[in-house]
Amino acid sequence: MGELMQGLKRSCMCGEINENMIDKEVTLMGWVARRRVLSHLTFLLLRDRTGIAQVVIDENTAEEDIIAKEKIIRNEFVVAVRGVVSAREEANINPSMKTGKVEISVIELRILSEAETTPFPIEESVNVNTELRLKYRYLDLRRSNVAENFIIRHNVAQIVRKFLDEEGFLEIETPMLTKSTPEGARDYLVPSRVHPGNFYALPQSPQLFKQLLMVSGFDRYFQIVKCFRDEDLRADRQPEFTQIDMELSFVDVDDVIDVNERLIKKIFKEVKNIDLEIPFIRMPYKEAMERFGSDKPDIRFGMELKNITDIVNGSDFKVFQGAIDAGGSVRAINAKGCGSFPRKKIDAFVDVAKTYGAKGLAWISVLDDGFKTTISKFFDDDKVSEIVKALDGESGDLILICADKDNIVFDALGALRLDAAKKLDILDKDDFKFLWVTEFPLFEYSEEECRFVAKHHPFTSPMDEDLDILESNPGEARAKAYDMVLNGFELGGGSIRIYRQDIQKTMFKALGFSEEDAQKRFGFLLDAFKFGAPPHGGLAFGFDRIIMLLTGAESIRDVIAFPKVKDASCLLTEAPNIVDRAQLDELKINIENGDIEEE
Ligand code: AMO
Ligand code: AMP
Repeated sequence: MGELMQGLKRSCMCGEINENMIDKEVTLMGWVARRRVLSHLTFLLLRDRTGIAQVVIDENTAEEDIIAKEKIIRNEFVVAVRGVVSAREEANINPSMKTGKVEISVIELRILSEAETTPFPIEESVNVNTELRLKYRYLDLRRSNVAENFIIRHNVAQIVRKFLDEEGFLEIETPMLTKSTPEGARDYLVPSRVHPGNFYALPQSPQLFKQLLMVSGFDRYFQIVKCFRDEDLRADRQPEFTQIDMELSFVDVDDVIDVNERLIKKIFKEVKNIDLEIPFIRMPYKEAMERFGSDKPDIRFGMELKNITDIVNGSDFKVFQGAIDAGGSVRAINAKGCGSFPRKKIDAFVDVAKTYGAKGLAWISVLDDGFKTTISKFFDDDKVSEIVKALDGESGDLILICADKDNIVFDALGALRLDAAKKLDILDKDDFKFLWVTEFPLFEYSEEECRFVAKHHPFTSPMDEDLDILESNPGEARAKAYDMVLNGFELGGGSIRIYRQDIQKTMFKALGFSEEDAQKRFGFLLDAFKFGAPPHGGLAFGFDRIIMLLTGAESIRDVIAFPKVKDASCLLTEAPNIVDRAQLDELKINIENGDIEEE
């Protein structure tokens, strides 16, 4: 049974006690991290979110009541301690502890709450399997290294709010029960009781509402906001995640980029004391693909893609020639220093290429006195030499070559580049290389739907230069869209929007939307634009991704308090779960093959 707090008031946090407080009386409250007995002395390490304080109980001098209580205390009991701050003896000073020079001599001790043995020790250094950590996430969050991420997350949120406030942005909330937003993922639907058979969609982003707020004249809006996307989970993707979302009126690309570079600079200065150089470089999408095989290139290292189509064109090698004749290309990277990899490791590169749709991968290992290669049957030494030269190959290097349609070649080599860098362990987490990827294609051809779909969303403005090719050559039209990329992650993205009805109409036409389709899906936005739409544009950052990269976490799961696992379930609450028949009846929902909780 826990004792009451009555008559006790916490005077400071555990991590705050220090030498300036010697001989002062303090009252601390927290969790017992460790109990240690050394002859007549008992030491309790008392933990709260700010740190750990050492409490000493001397059996020779303490009151009986304190000694009796101290004997039953175990790890994770919640206790209150009133005592006097004293200097530790020289031999007991712990320089690795923030409060390591002082300790508390107890005057009063209360056990506020007892604790059963926890499923894993609450210690930084203990490796616990992920399932267990997430099932008992509230205990996992007690560990200081885990909790630290959330303190940083809080700090960044405050910096963002302050910065955007000073820049004239208003924080405005938008609905969670709403209509489908066009971000391209699957929606989470919420059934309506009042309108049986009708559903709300949880927002994939506040996109349409923030554009409406610009029509309202709010000029600059922001929100730190939950978004929901039913898509496959990855290390940088969760079904519910948080955006720093913003929209600005009377702006073009440069204005949005400028304010966001300054925001990121401020965050890095305040959180990491790193002075980022702005402006960040800007790289057109096409260049990013050709050089790095990715629209979110990691530019911390080289190993850039080289187009060797011209060198290998005209050979008898069907694999290369077939790809070239079909309009594809042959490209390569120099996996620097991977030439000495054992065959198994080189074969693993081939497997990586295949997961990206490549039919195969050719390679050349550059030796001191020649080459070892899978294409020796088709290319003589001079040709192989020419390829190696084009890739600046030196002894010890491994040239990886892929032939296919451009998009497959880019994906495969882009992935191999990252894979090689990981295997070589050359990626420095503390090296922050930012860039903007710009001039995205406006449309993307969907093989499934046999039509062009919007690459960003249908309200993204074409580049002024490409307005006249929207209909004649949509595949080449570029968008006023931009992504901020950091070390191979898309931190955020946005665009300047279409505010002119004539361009919007052309856009819908190119996308194959009839007027009725467009009206049905986005009618409320199109109607709003009839009443005076300012030119506007914006951007949204993945807040979780920013925190992941700032903290060096492996996954955004580590920076989300209660994250979901791979199958989108929550191990702590066991959501999603089956519901009562009565609840379903009320919603007029009939489950065909699922389980139902019968009363
Ligand atoms: P976009 O879809 O690019 O743009 O999303 C913006 C940023 O949100 C992050 N993000 C995610 N983070 C974690 N888990 C996910 N499942 C996930 N999906 C996206 C990424 C991404 O860069 N409305 C537009 C923005 C705009 O045009 O203003 C939008 O949502 O970091
Ligand atoms: P094959 O004729 O299929 O035995 O292939 C000969 C070599 O070409 C092997 O090393 C294959 O891995 C390689 N190869 C096959 N397909 C491709 C491709 N699409 N791009 C590059 N190399 C390939």
